[in-house]
Amino acid sequence: MRHSQEQQPAADPAYAALEPVLHRHGHQAHGLIEVLNSAQQHYGHLSEPLLRHIARRLHLPFSRVQGTASFYHLFRFSPAATHSCLVCTGTACHVLGAARLLAELQQAPLAELGVELGTVRCIGTCSGAPLVEVDGEVWNHQSGASVLQRLRELQR
Ligand code: FES
Repeated sequence: MRHSQEQQPAADPAYAALEPVLHRHGHQAHGLIEVLNSAQQHYGHLSEPLLRHIARRLHLPFSRVQGTASFYHLFRFSPAATHSCLVCTGTACHVLGAARLLAELQQAPLAELGVELGTVRCIGTCSGAPLVEVDGEVWNHQSGASVLQRLRELQR
């Protein structure tokens, strides 16, 4: 069913950047994937209010819009991490506690700090073990607590 302009829910000015793609698809369900793509490009991630807005503008149930977005791995539902923290799991770092360091960081609320956690094999500066590499900078002789403190300082 095609909806006329008079039947369209009011456009939310907060999401005005989506109007061209919504209009191009005549506010029809077949445009959902392209609208989701455009939404992610403009707003960085698909928040629940944004998904609800898309559902309203395409006359679709929220569950269908959320389900479709969840199906595809290319869509993200929270802001992209702004920092990367890689724990070295090479032999020297392992011997000096990398596993414990990694476990402590896995328990920490890193997503709230905008930090994406990962691991890396020996980066060749073993005298600093155990170490992490944060945004390309090497932090030597670290513990879970010391990494967390420094990550929090990055927020300031
Ligand atoms: S094992 Fe970690 S830097 Fe070499």
